[in-house]
Amino acid sequence: MRYSDDLIEEIRLKNDIVDVIGGYVKLQRKGSSHFGLCPFHNEKSPSFSVSPDKQMYYCFGCGAGGNVFTFIMEYENFTFLEALKMLAERAGVDLPQLEYSKEAREQADKKNQLLKINREAAKYYYLQLKGKQGTQAMNYLKGRGLSDETIQKFGLGFSDRFGNGLYRYLKELDYPDGILHESGLFNADEKHGMYDKFWNRVIFPIMDVNNKVIGFGGRVMGDGKPKYLNSPETKIFDKSRNLYGLHAARLSRKKNLIICEGYMDVISMHQAGFNHAVASLGTALTSLQASLMKRYTDEVLIIYDSDEAGTRAALRAIPLLKGVGLSTKVVNLKPYKDPDEFIQHEGREAFEKRLEAAENSFLFELRMSEQAYDMEDPQGKTDFLHNAASRLLGFEDEIERNNYIESVAGTYGIESSTLSKLVNKLALKGAGIQEIRQPKSGIHSNREKESGIQKAQKLMLTWITSYPEIMEQITDYIGPQDFTTELYHKVAEMLFEQYHRGEINPAKLLNRFVDSEEQKEVTSLFNASIPLETDAERIRALSDVICNMKENSIAYRSAHLNPTDMQGLQDLMRDKKALEKWKESGVRLHISFDQG
Ligand code: UTP
Ligand code: MN
Repeated sequence: MRYSDDLIEEIRLKNDIVDVIGGYVKLQRKGSSHFGLCPFHNEKSPSFSVSPDKQMYYCFGCGAGGNVFTFIMEYENFTFLEALKMLAERAGVDLPQLEYSKEAREQADKKNQLLKINREAAKYYYLQLKGKQGTQAMNYLKGRGLSDETIQKFGLGFSDRFGNGLYRYLKELDYPDGILHESGLFNADEKHGMYDKFWNRVIFPIMDVNNKVIGFGGRVMGDGKPKYLNSPETKIFDKSRNLYGLHAARLSRKKNLIICEGYMDVISMHQAGFNHAVASLGTALTSLQASLMKRYTDEVLIIYDSDEAGTRAALRAIPLLKGVGLSTKVVNLKPYKDPDEFIQHEGREAFEKRLEAAENSFLFELRMSEQAYDMEDPQGKTDFLHNAASRLLGFEDEIERNNYIESVAGTYGIESSTLSKLVNKLALKGAGIQEIRQPKSGIHSNREKESGIQKAQKLMLTWITSYPEIMEQITDYIGPQDFTTELYHKVAEMLFEQYHRGEINPAKLLNRFVDSEEQKEVTSLFNASIPLETDAERIRALSDVICNMKENSIAYRSAHLNPTDMQGLQDLMRDKKALEKWKESGVRLHISFDQG
């Protein structure tokens, strides 16, 4: 059983896509679209666009796209039904209870089983640590300054030396090999069968915000390699959308969250009372993690290692955090390497002082950029200040911008009025470095190069959905039969059908594609770029596309025509004549395009 198309459409209509996405991503209006930093890949300048007219989003950088349902599914990692439910609630629409499909139930069962296995594993590791065989591990943790309370709070454990202890434990609980394999906790080979992935390591269970164990990290007790081993991603463990320690940090009621690099850093900070610390999971920070933090706070303190890699990671993290609307500061730990070391040596009060002295992230970025200039040299310093001025242009709010101008001028010993003049001059030239990038081509660069024919058909679909008013004039020349690529043909049929029923509605059309890859591809069809300024240019471009498509479609149909298909043959003849006439006399389109 499923919900009716009408109900699904009602819910879609009641959730304006700009409002919904605006709750997750900071959007800026630019022409007829809104732009922001794409939450689905890391980027510094916004190529993620949301169109209020089409009620769709599309990222020119990574090709992510779809309607409001797609967005919630991708962003929240929801199934379609979960997204529907959430958006129904948001819009105050009552959803009748629905029986789950067999597949949905099976998926949910599987996730539950994996969660149970992880919980059992965490219990097993914890008991190993507490037992006699765990003495060395316990000494290691104690040696690092962890109290019994902390060990218990984070559920730390130990994987023994036998190499299949966990496997035997879970087999006794009757779990089949298939699901054990999917848990990522075991390796398998022909000689040994299945055996434990973690062996002779202290274990850090990784929990989601609901205190469910979703994976593990394991550290060698000494200098072995790799230092940490982590669970692979599974159906319940997605490293890009979880944060270590967040289950506790979200309840800390502090004025901000701290993001750091390591499990031990989080634990050390929590033990010292800084229970608002979280860490990414052995990978670089993602925008999904940034948005996750945004749910609990408006400010994030970055405490990355004080080496070069840490600085680079901080510079990457700042735009991600800002992109979701978080304000950010950077904490300096020098001369210590990481928060754990700092606290071991200097204690909590000194650490607290460092938090209070955290540097505004804009000023941090600026300070780091000094390295590219010879600041002792008058020319070097001039170039640096010009670059600083163009960075300052990024602040739209005048009061905010002036405050920053004052602060920068003070730091570098120049009059703030001088710097202010420089910034204004750059503004007049339109030289802000935060310029929204208007991509030349709407086509995802990683995909295979598409043929000219496909391009023309794609462009036509973009024309139709961007300017539905052209349909009246082009239906004489172009129909679904002229779209020869299978998916394009399917989409064209739907669009023409919508047109004949009196409404062109690309976002609604998308409801009928369930597969997310297909949704993405269809969305990209509506977002080819039409980088033209004047109506005359547009009309000429449109005529060219029509002509190209028609030629191709005639060639294609001639090649595939069944010789006994008289109707097909007649249509083909008629189209050929029309095309010749078009080319001879140049059929005039009379169209005026609305500038959004
Ligand atoms: P670090 O190497 O900075 O370790 O890695 P650490 O957190 O200071 O650990 P200790 O204090 O030496 O015990 C930071 C994070 O990077 C990931 C882990 O998540 C670790 O917490 N990492 C590091 C790995 O996943 N694998 C590795 O081999 C090393
Ligand atoms: Mn450390």
